[in-house]
Amino acid sequence: MSVTNSSSGVRSPSRAPFYRAVGDEVEVFRAAARRGLPVLLKGPTGCGKTRFVEAVAHELGRDLITVAGHEDMTSADLVGRFLLKGGETVWVDGPLTRAVRTGALCYLDEIVEARQDTTVVIHPLADHRRELPVDRLGVTVPAAPGFQLVISYNPGYQSVLKNIKESTRQRFIAIELDFPPPDAETEIVAHEAGIDPDTARVLVRIGNAIRNIDGSPLREVSSTRMLILAGGLVAEGLGLRRAVQAAIVETLSDDGDVIRALGELVDALLPAP
Ligand SMILES: Nc1ncnc2c1ncn2[C@@H]1O[C@H](COP(=O)(O)OP(=O)(O)O)[C@@H](O)[C@H]1O
Ligand SMILES: [Mg+2]
Repeated sequence: MSVTNSSSGVRSPSRAPFYRAVGDEVEVFRAAARRGLPVLLKGPTGCGKTRFVEAVAHELGRDLITVAGHEDMTSADLVGRFLLKGGETVWVDGPLTRAVRTGALCYLDEIVEARQDTTVVIHPLADHRRELPVDRLGVTVPAAPGFQLVISYNPGYQSVLKNIKESTRQRFIAIELDFPPPDAETEIVAHEAGIDPDTARVLVRIGNAIRNIDGSPLREVSSTRMLILAGGLVAEGLGLRRAVQAAIVETLSDDGDVIRALGELVDALLPAP
C-alpha cells in the first residue's frame, strides 16, 4: 500500500493573498459559499484559479485543503485508508474526509486527471445530502458547517464534465476565469514579479500576441504565470528579451521553427533599444 501526503496540505495564511478581481467572480463565490454550494472553476492553466481559491478561503476565514489531482490518484487518496502502525491497523482520514469533518474548503485541483472512481465519492457531497460515505469504515460522515467543495477544470483539454454525473454537475455553480484583461494583468504581473508597470505592460502585450496567434500550433498559450516568471527574471537583472525567451518562448515549444517564429513575434513587440 502506498501513501502520499505530498498532494495535500492545509493552508491558512495570516496575510490575505493578493487577488485582483477581474469580474464579479468574488461576489458569485461569496453567494455560493453562503449556501454551501459546490463550485466548478473553469479556466486555462496559469490564469489564477488557485490564487482565487486561496483568496476567497482567506476572506471567508476557512481552512483550505488543496488536493492536486494526478493520474494515479484513487478514492482512497481522498477519503482515507487503513495503515499498519506498530503492529496495529489504524484508520487515517484522507484530505477530503478531513475537510468534511472540520468544515474546511476543499479544493480538488485538476481532479479530472484522477481515476474515475475518485469523482464518484464527491457525488453525495455535491448535493443536498452533504455527506461522505466512507465505505471502508462503513459510515457516512455528514459535512460540518463551512465545508465547501471546489473543483477546477481546464476546458482546453480535459473532460471532467464527462466524468461527473449529469445529476451532480447540475449542483455545481460554474465560475469561468480567463486570462485577465490587459490593465488587470499588467497590475498583477507588476505586483507579483516586482517590476515596473511599463515592463509589465510589454510582457502582457507579448502574452496576448501569443494567445491570439491564428491556427496556433501551441498546446498551451502564454499564461499569466509565465508572464510573472519572465518578469521575475527581469527583476533579477536579466534583459527583457532574454527573460521572455527563457520563461515564455522556450517553455511553450521544443520545435525549432515554432521557437524561431515566436522569437520574431516577440522582437516585433519589444520597444526599440
Ligand atoms: N487575478 C489575479 N490576482 C492576483 N494574482 C494572479 C491573478 N491571476 C493570476 N495571478 C498570478 O498568477 C499565478 C498563477 O496563477 P494560479 O492561480 O496558480 O493559476 P491556475 O491555478 O489557474 O493554474 C499566481 O501565482 C499569481 O501570482
Ligand atoms: Mg492551480
